[in-house]
Amino acid sequence: SLSTASEAAPPARVGRLRSMQILVTGGAGFIGSNFVHLTLAQRPDAQITVLDALTYAGTKASLDGVLDKITFVEGDIADAELVDRLVGEADLVVHFAAESHNDNSLANPWPFVQTNLIGTYTLLEAVRKHNVRYHHVSTDEVYGDLELDDPERFSESTPYNPSSPYSSTKAGSDLLVRAWVRSFGVQATISNCSNNYGPRQHVEKFIPRQITNVIDGVRPKLYGAGLNVRDWIHVDDHNTGVWAIIDRGQIGETYLIGADGEVNNVTVIRDILEAMGKDPNAFDHVTDRAGHDLRYAIDSTRLRTELGWQPQYRDFRSGLQATIDWYKANEDWWRPMKAETEAKYAATQKVVQAPVEGDADADGESH
Ligand code: NAD
Ligand code: TYD
Repeated sequence: SLSTASEAAPPARVGRLRSMQILVTGGAGFIGSNFVHLTLAQRPDAQITVLDALTYAGTKASLDGVLDKITFVEGDIADAELVDRLVGEADLVVHFAAESHNDNSLANPWPFVQTNLIGTYTLLEAVRKHNVRYHHVSTDEVYGDLELDDPERFSESTPYNPSSPYSSTKAGSDLLVRAWVRSFGVQATISNCSNNYGPRQHVEKFIPRQITNVIDGVRPKLYGAGLNVRDWIHVDDHNTGVWAIIDRGQIGETYLIGADGEVNNVTVIRDILEAMGKDPNAFDHVTDRAGHDLRYAIDSTRLRTELGWQPQYRDFRSGLQATIDWYKANEDWWRPMKAETEAKYAATQKVVQAPVEGDADADGESH
């Protein structure tokens, strides 16, 4: 827990924020666009401006159906002049924009340094100047990884120990936020969430990559033995957690968001194949990721007990089924990005023999 220059400030209230101006960075990306849809559905008076650079990861198609209800600004979060103007008009900034994919960060770390560090710095200077409430969206990957059999899970007090250019630049951005709270009294909160799944996730990511491969008649691609564990949460549950923190969180504090969804990768692939009516063993092992984190696991007790948050999607398989249905029904959304994504992967990933640990009989549950 940080001591802040602003401990006396009252927490932001739902009612006060409802009709306020919300600046959402990265609102054309996966989680940010779902945040915009959810917010407009639950808080129809919200006035939303999306700031998004429309990188390879962002598309206005993710805001179909709500573009006429929001203001969309195409621009970079590291553009200080633009950010100063937009933050000056806002009552709340929710910061989703980032370079977000580990594999890309291994191929070329520079955009991660630029957007995750310089971009976040630029936003912090603007919220500091205009004294605007700021929520910082981050990842559990800042904590590094856990052993498969470690009874511990990540909590708010776990030391930072990031592995990749992605997670280290996210960790650095979190530390900037903490310093701006402590040194300048910025009114900020931070959330660190586990792996998200759901509609509108880029097909470079694990689950949508495999779903769209199966739709295309291509075998899913598993890195290494596939025993790595991720703690899956539906994107809407992540975003209700973000709102709980904005509404009721304590300024200067960090909250972990997770839904007790630990599953290993080989199980996820088999679940997808089975749900799509295929042989659950019809997947390929491919070259493992360098520095591949073994396991992430979140203890979200603080968010649940202090802020009364609960996930709605408690059954990973049914959430996965709904996600498969979404990709089947929305080929127009993902088709434009599929070929280029697979071409990029094909340049570095080769099909390999199943590693010995990748025993096809492993039951796949992490505990
Ligand atoms: P994403 O890659 O789908 O979307 C990122 C969005 O940010 C895109 O629309 C992109 O155009 C935009 N963007 C990138 N650089 C920008 C810049 N310089 N200026 C303005 N816009 C820019 O990412 P996501 O999966 O939706 O992740 C959103 C946030 O949530 C990130 O901060 C990420 O670290 C965090 N997070 C993601 C997960 C996950 O499982 N995906 C889990 C925990 C936390
Ligand atoms: P990813 O979606 O990239 O998220 P993160 O690296 O942030 O956890 O990958 C999730 C897991 O799936 C990770 O252990 C790497 C693995 N993976 C595969 O096995 N095959 C794939 O094609 C991809 C993209 C990821």
